[in-house]
Amino acid sequence: PLPPPFQVPLPIPPVLKPVSTSGGVDRYEMTQREATAEILPGVRTPLWTYEGTFPGPTIESRRRRPVTVTHRNELPVPTVVHLHGGRTRADSDGYPTDLVLPEGWPGTAVGAAPGMRNGHGGHDMSGHGRHDMSGTHGMHDPRAVETTLTRDYTFPLDQRPALLWYHDHRMDFTAPAIWRGLAGLHIVRDDAEESLCLPAGRRELPLMIADRAFSADGSLAYPALDPTLRKQPGVQEPYLAGVLGDVILVNGAPWPVHEVDAARYRLRVLNASNARHYELEAVTDDGRRLDLVQVGADQGLLAAPVTHRFLPIAPAERHDVVVDFSSVPIGGRVMVVNRLGSGRTRDVMAFRVARKAKDGSRVARVLSTDLPTWRRSDAVRVREFSFRAGRMRGGHGWLIGGKPFDPARTDVTVRLGDIEVWRLIADVHHPVHLHLVGFRVLSRSGRRPLPHDAGLKDTVSLRPGEAVEIITRFDAYRGRYLFHCHNAEHEDMGMMANLEVT
Ligand code: C2O
Ligand code: CU
Repeated sequence: PLPPPFQVPLPIPPVLKPVSTSGGVDRYEMTQREATAEILPGVRTPLWTYEGTFPGPTIESRRRRPVTVTHRNELPVPTVVHLHGGRTRADSDGYPTDLVLPEGWPGTAVGAAPGMRNGHGGHDMSGHGRHDMSGTHGMHDPRAVETTLTRDYTFPLDQRPALLWYHDHRMDFTAPAIWRGLAGLHIVRDDAEESLCLPAGRRELPLMIADRAFSADGSLAYPALDPTLRKQPGVQEPYLAGVLGDVILVNGAPWPVHEVDAARYRLRVLNASNARHYELEAVTDDGRRLDLVQVGADQGLLAAPVTHRFLPIAPAERHDVVVDFSSVPIGGRVMVVNRLGSGRTRDVMAFRVARKAKDGSRVARVLSTDLPTWRRSDAVRVREFSFRAGRMRGGHGWLIGGKPFDPARTDVTVRLGDIEVWRLIADVHHPVHLHLVGFRVLSRSGRRPLPHDAGLKDTVSLRPGEAVEIITRFDAYRGRYLFHCHNAEHEDMGMMANLEVT
């Protein structure tokens, strides 16, 4: 019972209110719990959610104003929260074994060591019922397990304004957890960006694009080997390359439509799909393609706008795009389509231009002047990593440098402050993400980067057979971080590595 395209209104995820804003810190609470939602008309779909919605609530924050989010796990399995694109201390970065355990999970040290529930938050949790179910803190032993029903995640947000997103990152089970709904947006803003007069308010739209598949009863279909997601990781054999859905959701709605003014809009696009790539274009009823004016990348504003006819976006990438609807006749429609899709997966969403309106927005010729200008000659070393299929656990896996992920092994040690060039080599498509740092794309197989590689990135799409060079400075915090493929199935099947900043 799939709905016809462009009928369901585009939902905008609710913005979460802080529980307090004192002492220069915004504090939030989020409960991870099961819920149902009407995604396809007339049926309820069971989900795993942040605060009962998919996408989870959006957090709006300001640059350098720290945010603490207390996550409470009422799901039937352990979870881990990672703020993707956040410059975050290691103990709040959501390492895959830093679990927030659910009540009654085997090994939960009920009542042990009260007060150790978290090493750094320390605010008064009274009035929230039972919280202190903690045991060991996993900071020093990579295999140690957090035993908490809640956990404080602290985000300093000392970084460029950008669209970040938070999602589950549990060891071996990230892909099915995100698929079930554990993903939400986190926007960082600052005065400089606001003074640019980009489209704002109603004319700034977050668009989380994610494909999903549904069973006949309306539940999400995912080919997990263990549908309880409690013990055995992995997907059935035909899905080893990644799980694709045949329904395209934007902000949790199938092929939605949104009514707009005949004016400029700022679209903050995230590809939150597990494995699907898109090449987005905006086409009018009469077959005209509208310009996609890119103003920002994963890690914030570009130096100057880049105009695209179509825009590739790999899993976990974000594009900040201005589209001008003023040339579309009132009553006309603009379809966002995926050039890589076919049949129903070609459609993404539509805009219906409803009315003429004033437009005070603009796209400045200079958007930012603070982008890092690292040169190859600044790098103290060049490292090389292959991203290839291989064997793990006696079966199919995805390997970095020939090895599947092992939380007990340090794969790379970098010195705080060092600039390095990393050469990333792919067999098939791999969107590679580094935690903690933003980077710039230097080259693709010896050639110049693509137009959409501009700006500061945290995820780069390696195309089949390609060798991509990136450059970055490891300058935020010391500690143990990750880099990995963000095809979520590849990530769960070994394609992740440890990055130690010392
Ligand atoms: Cu979006 Cu390590 O993750
Ligand atoms: Cu991959």
